[in-house]
Amino acid sequence: MRTAKDFFTPLAVGAPAPLREIPARPSRAIHFFDPSNAKMAAKIPDMVGTVDVLLGNLEDAVKAENKEAARHGLVEIATNTDFGPTQLWTRVNALDSPWVLDDLTTLVTEIGHKLDVIMVPKVQGAEDIHYVDRLLAQLEAKAKLERPILVHAILETARGVANIEEICGASPRMHGLSLGPADLAADRRMKTTRVGGGHPGYLVRQDPTGGDIDADRPTYQQDLWHYTIARMVDACAMHGIYAHYGPFGDIADVVACEDQFRNAYLLGCVGAWSLHPKQIAIAKKVFSPSVEDVEHARRVVAAMGDGTGAVMLDGKMEDDASTKQCLVMVELAERLAA
Ligand code: GLV
Ligand code: MG
Repeated sequence: MRTAKDFFTPLAVGAPAPLREIPARPSRAIHFFDPSNAKMAAKIPDMVGTVDVLLGNLEDAVKAENKEAARHGLVEIATNTDFGPTQLWTRVNALDSPWVLDDLTTLVTEIGHKLDVIMVPKVQGAEDIHYVDRLLAQLEAKAKLERPILVHAILETARGVANIEEICGASPRMHGLSLGPADLAADRRMKTTRVGGGHPGYLVRQDPTGGDIDADRPTYQQDLWHYTIARMVDACAMHGIYAHYGPFGDIADVVACEDQFRNAYLLGCVGAWSLHPKQIAIAKKVFSPSVEDVEHARRVVAAMGDGTGAVMLDGKMEDDASTKQCLVMVELAERLAA
């Protein structure tokens, strides 16, 4: 039986150094912590191995007066922690802020050998990625780092959405994108006040003239983020990088959180942010294919032999295209099991 590897060519490697071998390491849950918060920081070593990514956040949600403490707190945590299988990421301050130059200089110089990915907020266009890329190259050379640090952009401005394809392709360092629904909603002048998720007013109502008229005319909430997630997934797929849903601010509403994450998963995202430990389990579950889905996918691949033609399985037609979808599922399962 062919494996997923027969179908997925390795991702392009950027010149001159092997900059981009996009890690096949999972990023189902990117768990945010504030390194200036001593209580939160003390828990980080114990979280190693329980989550795919631990991210030291320096940007929004960290008070201006705590920016330096957060930066130094992250250096301290990274220096004193063995992250084992867990990746260490950071979210630096925005490129138009007074803090970002010190964020990048300090972090790459002091803990660059431990940092896997730098998340850059409020990216507007390729020029932002070019700036970070050049700066990182200089700092990495100075620090004699042997491994390039990857870059992950947050999609949270209307201009960023308009320039999404060029952002994804701006550097071989690009790891992926995350949707930033809170800032994006503000930038677009949407009439919402939440951090991600849906809105009770954004709905479809049953047509009163419909065949199946219901006196109550039931309503169904729609996904506010469908367009942007789909756009992000296409741009990321085109450049071989990874799409992620971002934050879900209503920590208590685990059902809606799971729904939002699942919508993103089904559309092609590989992970989401976790703002509270209970969201880690949700993200891990949602962004891992179910045993049944993988079993079914393997059956289809096996039944299709060389992957061409058509077969009937359980009364359904399978062909080359459905086999490719099944291979996506198998490949994800293999990656997560590796
Ligand atoms: C995340 O940064 C957001 O703005 O939603
Ligand atoms: Mg934001």
